[in-house]
Amino acid sequence: MIGHRVVRENPPMSQATLQTSRIRLAPLSDEHLEHEIELDSDPEVMRYLGDGRPRTREEVETLHRGRLAAATHVPGLGFWAGFVNEEFVGWWILEPPERADQGPVDGQAELGYRLLRRHWRKGLASEGARELIRHGFEDLGLTRVFAETMAVNAASRATMAAVGMQHVRTFHMEWEEPLPGSELGEVEYAISRQLWLAHRSTQAHHCATPQRR
Ligand SMILES: CC(C)(COP(=O)(O)OP(=O)(O)OC[C@H]1O[C@@H](n2cnc3c(N)ncnc32)[C@H](O)[C@@H]1OP(=O)(O)O)[C@@H](O)C(=O)NCCC(=O)NCCS
Repeated sequence: MIGHRVVRENPPMSQATLQTSRIRLAPLSDEHLEHEIELDSDPEVMRYLGDGRPRTREEVETLHRGRLAAATHVPGLGFWAGFVNEEFVGWWILEPPERADQGPVDGQAELGYRLLRRHWRKGLASEGARELIRHGFEDLGLTRVFAETMAVNAASRATMAAVGMQHVRTFHMEWEEPLPGSELGEVEYAISRQLWLAHRSTQAHHCATPQRR
């Protein structure tokens, strides 16, 4: 008897678990909800986000469902919860563009990050962001990664610059409840696959250059 061949379509690419030298980046799931609630309850974390005030548990529960849904739009993209030595430090995201002015969905993703205040200024946001940019270009075939923030959000802008993204534009949006500083607008930073590859080869060259001391 001749057996019949089972033809399977490739399953859609699910979100990968990633590892940097310090951070384990795990696809966001229900077990991370309490961490998201803690993160969004800090007024300093929320200063430049949403309506600028901390969020209640109920609000974060609703947002959490949307965050999980973000992983269902484009295979491989979504939210990642970050852990250092098994301790939650914050989350990172790569998501498809949502507004027409952000350009095409194909080949593009928006980068974001939000860390618990006690983990700021340790290089963690940029370490995780570098890995997501690598993952986006090398594993997911993206051609452009961009990020947006309020012009006055110095920490976020510095993180974008630290990972090799360049300022593309400053623009203005209509807000129902504008936050202080919104009169200075929003900024977009971006890095193309080509630029990322060029940076990478420069860094590899520097590493290969013998030290003169
Ligand atoms: C933005 C945020 C994620 C940065 O996290 P972080 O872990 O402190 O960032 P890093 O330590 O990786 O720092 C990255 C770069 O930004 C610089 N930086 C960080 N915070 C800064 C600040 N408040 N002012 C100026 N520069 C700052 C660092 O010096 C570093 O630059 P360098 O590599 O040239 O030395 C963190 O401040 C945060 O969670 N903020 C609240 C949420 C938020 O605003 N998210 C962005 C929304 S668009």
